Amino acid sequence: MQRWGGRFTGDTDPRVVEFTRSVELDAAFATDDLQGSIAHVHGLGRAGVLSDAEVETLVAGLEALRAEAEAGLIAWDPALEDVHLNLEAALEARIGTVARKLHTGRSRNDQVATDLRLWTRRAVDRIDLALLAMERALVGLAERDGEAILPGTTHIQPAQPVLLAHHVLAYVEMLERDRGRLSDARARLNVSPLGSGALAGVGYPLDREAVAAELGFDGVSANSLDAVSDRDFVVEVLAASALAMVHLSRLAEEITWWSNPRFGFVRVADAFSTGSSMMPNKRNPDPAELVRGRSAGVIAALTEMLTVLKGLPLAYQRDLQEDKPALFRAIGTLEASLSVMTGLIDTLTVDPRRMRQAADEGFTTATAMADALVRAGLPFRSAHNVVGALVAMVEGRGAGLEEISDRDVDMALGMVDDEAIPVLRRDPDIGQGMRAAATVEGALAAMDVVGGTAPNRVAAALVKARARLGPG
Ligand code: ARG
Repeated sequence: MQRWGGRFTGDTDPRVVEFTRSVELDAAFATDDLQGSIAHVHGLGRAGVLSDAEVETLVAGLEALRAEAEAGLIAWDPALEDVHLNLEAALEARIGTVARKLHTGRSRNDQVATDLRLWTRRAVDRIDLALLAMERALVGLAERDGEAILPGTTHIQPAQPVLLAHHVLAYVEMLERDRGRLSDARARLNVSPLGSGALAGVGYPLDREAVAAELGFDGVSANSLDAVSDRDFVVEVLAASALAMVHLSRLAEEITWWSNPRFGFVRVADAFSTGSSMMPNKRNPDPAELVRGRSAGVIAALTEMLTVLKGLPLAYQRDLQEDKPALFRAIGTLEASLSVMTGLIDTLTVDPRRMRQAADEGFTTATAMADALVRAGLPFRSAHNVVGALVAMVEGRGAGLEEISDRDVDMALGMVDDEAIPVLRRDPDIGQGMRAAATVEGALAAMDVVGGTAPNRVAAALVKARARLGPG
């Protein structure tokens, strides 16, 4: 008979046992379940529901089970449905019938809500460290090779030169926001549902605050119906995880392009590449591709959880058991992806020469030249048109903007109708000024604002990032 089988006659259909059980999944939070039970027993003792001797026996039994669970020694019985009923049965087998008092003033509904919060809190803390490690790897790359100059792109077309450090630090910003989102979610999830019972509260004078404090919660849930049916925290963590995966996926995408010999910007280490079973020449960035591919599963987990919740009336419904596959899979994917991407970045080699070559192509200094004309007195739109004309001229010749002659500049100025133009055409230094502005170094240095790619700004940003993250 099931532990809840008092009112039932006959056995549960094996298909139902198979269909409803969750122990394969929820065994993952066995230690959290035992920690919650220990705090609950202490609470029952303080409430005078259990005697000191009963508390002592129960806690000793639960502690022993916790040691077994930590060592992976508990044999889970699928017939016992879930981790909660398995552990209650294991406790009874160990300490006898006093174990039957454990579930006083508690339901599996507030129990599983508690366990999942404890599990998720641990997961969030691990992911925070993994994000930190990934940020450190990125900052390490920026420190090693950050002075390399590459063409920043928009629409995948060459746009303006940027420092590699600037590009890499953009991902550090993303991951730092991911940490912030997870930490916000952690603050909201860190309240104790224990004492909510099945849905309506419990009929014992439990000091919920004290139980919560023992479990490291910041407080207690304020509404029992909400507490047993709230999985907002799962949604929040999944949303933050999905976004973190999207960030990793964007980086992975860049790695796949940059490691293509056509780009040749980077080389993914052998240890982070795989080969082809047929083509002996192949060297593929598969880990990056799989990070990109697996982001789909984490996004799916978010929509899965939202969809599970959207039709549920208060309070607990068995549908909520479906929180676990989504959450566990997403957390597992994110952790593995962070780990592999950290290694890939740590071992990535950069070819600054190839990057620079690409930055020298595509007229990436055109905006800097237009800015130089603005400083010489031309309205920006007219300056844009003058430089546009210069680009068209040199593109036809297969030359670069730094190769324009004084005559080219004069011709381009002559093509634009603006009252400021005649003054500029009389300036003998205008050609030289335009050529100076056309250098990649000049274009970089000009981006001298907070958040810009001027080398001094990037150096300051890098120092700040390293100071925040610490060494390693
Ligand atoms: N396995 C269940 C879950 O994960 C535990 C709670 C079951 N409660 C119940 N009344 N059937 O949600």
